[in-house]
Amino acid sequence: MKIAVVGSGYVGLVSGSCFADFGHDVVCIDKDPAKIEALQGGRMPIYEPGLAELVHKNAAAGRLRFTTDLAAGVDGAAAVFIAVGTPARRGDGHADLSYVYGAAAEIAGHLTGDTVVVTKSTVPVGTGDEVERIIGEAGTAHTVAVVSNPEFLREGAAIGDFKRPDRIVIGAESEAARDVMREIYRPLFLNRSPIMFTGRRTAELIKYAANAFLATKITFINEMADLCEEVGADVQDVSRGIGLDNRIGAKFLHAGPGYGGSCFPKDTLALLKTAEDFGSPVRIVEAVVQVNDARKRAMGRKVIEAMAKAGIADPRGRKVALLGLTFKPNTDDMRDSPSLAIATALQDAGIEVVGYDPEGMEVAQAMMPGVAMASDTYAAAQGADAIVLVTEWDAFRALDLARLKALVATPLLVDLRNVYDPDEVRAAGFHYHSIGRP
Ligand code: UDX
Repeated sequence: MKIAVVGSGYVGLVSGSCFADFGHDVVCIDKDPAKIEALQGGRMPIYEPGLAELVHKNAAAGRLRFTTDLAAGVDGAAAVFIAVGTPARRGDGHADLSYVYGAAAEIAGHLTGDTVVVTKSTVPVGTGDEVERIIGEAGTAHTVAVVSNPEFLREGAAIGDFKRPDRIVIGAESEAARDVMREIYRPLFLNRSPIMFTGRRTAELIKYAANAFLATKITFINEMADLCEEVGADVQDVSRGIGLDNRIGAKFLHAGPGYGGSCFPKDTLALLKTAEDFGSPVRIVEAVVQVNDARKRAMGRKVIEAMAKAGIADPRGRKVALLGLTFKPNTDDMRDSPSLAIATALQDAGIEVVGYDPEGMEVAQAMMPGVAMASDTYAAAQGADAIVLVTEWDAFRALDLARLKALVATPLLVDLRNVYDPDEVRAAGFHYHSIGRP
């Protein structure tokens, strides 16, 4: 089947290359000539494990092409996926749908036959109706069905998530559209991935409900971690103790510095806006958003308190090394990363901040003014009064504590991801603070 994907960002590229790998004939389209040129030359605009290999393999087999020419890309396609960005609109937190609607209008003008137009971008409830209206207004002679097919891809694990999904959600209003979607996802039907057909609005809401629920789970365990610190309990055990209950489930119960990334912060806000517009507030999610925002800033204070306990009464002029700057490992994505709020809080207290990240340094440099970037972990630790493990990259899981101890000015490790065994770190001569553990 011929498939066009409009928007060659993270979601578009992963989806397009996986569809090509299923055997479809795929064209990925983007307005950015530099991006398309890079992709044509085999260079990836983002860091995602396994993506480059998948793109090279399918491009070489002639099943995956890249173009800036939307008309040519859409020509003959049985399905056109919209995978453009839906950033939070400045000021009001609503999802900015101008790229989605712009793409819909452009697609409508170039259709060459009956087509299924699929929104893959995360869009508020009712967006599919508007896309349908825009395409209808353009007056195409062909039958166009608008379908919602949200993605549930985790950065760093996106290809595995695409090919072995927990479920596929397809919100379609006609049998013909469902048939096209069945054909597209046929390999996943064959390996018995659960596929759900729903109404279009329901599919749109499932995406937001899933992300808001996961954000709630994380925020819940983060607050339990704070309580653990006060009552002398261990959040790792609380997490395991509740997670073994199948009704709760063990995943997304890892306490940390607060969730970040390109999805949870934006999608929780957008859900609140939709709820507000429809006069049906989701108060739990309102609390989650507030608690998580406050938590990221509080992590800076936690570091300063740890410094005080290590004998540094006045942190001004002292140096703190942040290990891991991206919002999670295996990505170069810095969006809404806790490291940003932590660095700002430390700088506001007059502390000199040094950072190191295995993949995110280039992006981090631009987003963290005044933070010096070190060439590796040990260079960052040189002369530091605190080492703060912010993001749990594998590279930070087996640090040479003896070597670090010899480099730092004050042996203090603040482990915001509970990677280390407290006894081991203390035995190595460090002051050690983690999240929700005695
Ligand atoms: C998320 C969803 O998982 C995915 O289904 C959706 O399509 C997009 O948003 P992603 O943002 O890539 O994916 O990352 P994820 O692994 O879900 O982590 C999100 C944030 O939560 C990170 O900041 C992570 O550190 C944090 N997190 C996650 C925790 O603090 N504790 C946990 O137990 C899990």
